[in-house]
Amino acid sequence: MSRTGEPTPIGVLISGTGSNLRALLSAIAENPAFGGHVVVVGSDRSDAPGLAAAASHGIATFAHEVSAFDTRQAWEQAMIADLKAYDPQVIVLAGFMRLVSGEFLANWPMRVVNTHPSLLPAFRGAHAIEDALAYGAQVTGCTVHFVDEELDHGPIIAQQAVAIDADDDVTSLRARIQAIEHELLPHCVSLLCRGELTIDGRIVRTGKDHA
Ligand code: GRF
Repeated sequence: MSRTGEPTPIGVLISGTGSNLRALLSAIAENPAFGGHVVVVGSDRSDAPGLAAAASHGIATFAHEVSAFDTRQAWEQAMIADLKAYDPQVIVLAGFMRLVSGEFLANWPMRVVNTHPSLLPAFRGAHAIEDALAYGAQVTGCTVHFVDEELDHGPIIAQQAVAIDADDDVTSLRARIQAIEHELLPHCVSLLCRGELTIDGRIVRTGKDHA
């Protein structure tokens, strides 16, 4: 909860289907003690299907394509401005396929979280599921972590493993990882909104006792 005792306002950034966004919205709707609510959803793609899902919930949306700006910095400034118009205190990158800069992060220090479909630090980057299969890994999973300036690198909030079966392909493995993500991401966002995460270097601790 915010200092006022009200639910913490959350901004979400997406690039794609928005299944993690929908999972977050469902978790918030189902749990009165969640501690946060989504106030705005933004995207780097104006055709991201998740934007329509957000709008159907009455949530404000915006989209800025990088190609519409002269510089990446100008694009990011537009993203920051549209987020800040709704005063979110927590930012969730839910399938947002762009790096954010230190300038972006300075607006929400240790309040930006990302979900990644591998057990970090293995298989960073945009093709984590394909890479785990190609490597012959027998276990992968998902990671929810704080965002820092390095790709898929910040302090880990929670991870969960998923076994890779011999007959898995990208579609089947992605489906099992996403089923886990859809529980883990809302759980971690709720902890952050309720002030139940503390960070000591790379170590994230859970629970009010540490606050
Ligand atoms: C998720 O699997 C996430 O880990 C990755 O992109 C995917 C986004 O899926 N970064 P969706 O748009 O939430 O359905």
